[in-house]
Amino acid sequence: MSAQPTSSAAVTAIPAGVFCAQDYEVLARKLLPAPTLAYLAGGAGRDITLRANRLALREWSIWPRLLRDVTGGHTRVALGGTPFTHPLLLAPVAFQTLAHPRGELETARAAAATDTCLVASTLSTHRLEDIAAAAGPLRWFQLYMQPTREATLGLVRRAEQAGYAALVLTLDTSIQPPSHRALRAGFRMPADCVAANLSAAVGPSGESAPASRIFQGLMRDAPGWDDVAWLRTETRLPIWIKGVLHPTDAARLQQAGAAGLVVSNHGGRSLDGAPASLHALPAIRARVGTDFPLLFDGGIRCGEDVFKAVALGADAVLIGRLQVYALAVAGALGVAHMLKLLREELEACMALAGCATLADIGPGALLAQPAAAMPAHWQDEPSDGRTDADLD
Ligand code: FNR
Repeated sequence: MSAQPTSSAAVTAIPAGVFCAQDYEVLARKLLPAPTLAYLAGGAGRDITLRANRLALREWSIWPRLLRDVTGGHTRVALGGTPFTHPLLLAPVAFQTLAHPRGELETARAAAATDTCLVASTLSTHRLEDIAAAAGPLRWFQLYMQPTREATLGLVRRAEQAGYAALVLTLDTSIQPPSHRALRAGFRMPADCVAANLSAAVGPSGESAPASRIFQGLMRDAPGWDDVAWLRTETRLPIWIKGVLHPTDAARLQQAGAAGLVVSNHGGRSLDGAPASLHALPAIRARVGTDFPLLFDGGIRCGEDVFKAVALGADAVLIGRLQVYALAVAGALGVAHMLKLLREELEACMALAGCATLADIGPGALLAQPAAAMPAHWQDEPSDGRTDADLD
């Protein structure tokens, strides 16, 4: 395997050695330059929340059930009234040309080929119009509020024009603490890897230094509740809120008219020390009621993980890092293949657990497994130097 991410030439064969969705992580760890891998794989700060996401998923076992007829089974789900053939969405992931020269355009092709909803990031390295042209009809736009409402509206209007069917407003990263792992690996964003949908940021020229670099500096333009209310009045697109962990925030956002919520800690890339998103999920489901749409992300690497998230209250899940790993290894084909594998893993899991539909999957399908019962090598997120055998 070469030491560089895949070239712009289309990959036409499934790479050798991929037998399950997470094998794309194994291959990407060999393929990507170490600093890039550290940036993509790492979390904020010391990776505490990043690790918590994976550990939380391992705290549950799945009960096998016998003699149930699942021959009419399927993975269909309706989200906000829209039918989806399966509960896997491609999470917004910024700067995808780090993983592949055609970046988000490849991901979009994979989404179209697999009937998967693509959530395109504000920080994409391709224009949202070009991503839309490559994607299928299931496409949502992830929005970061911009320093001015005018700039935010500019993005919203472009997303509407380009046929994105929903906005996913991410609220958990008004500031993003640096990843120690990426810093130590010497990661620097390449000069040609830029947010293609944003004009160059205008700095606070001529102002005196703020008392706090954080409170009066970086947080100065952070959105507030009034901005969420304002956005609702400006667009007819449904607005999902991404980055929700606290049940009280969930309830207030539901009241504020959110179409649904994404229970997420940004893949451990925001507050280091925040709970695992799986730990937050049941309380949020209890708070918003059974019918309110909830998406989940954080740590999903196999179909069984998807099953556990659904059992604990998610209607569907977003796939973050697995998407970029598959993109780096084999472009659109890799992402499409990863999604196919993940879906088959979910279906096999459902069949063996006696669940013919996602609606059949409830908390009773799981058995809590104390962390102490886990093998020692499961206690950690694999770091960049580890071998494949360390991957769970
Ligand atoms: C992200 N994520 C993210 N989220 C978002 O709302 N907008 C964005 O631009 C990005 N960018 C981004 C870049 C990279 C490199 C990663 C790894 C993640 C967070 C993403 O949507 C999702 O919440 C997590 O990735 C889910 O966790 P897993 O699946 O990566 O474990």
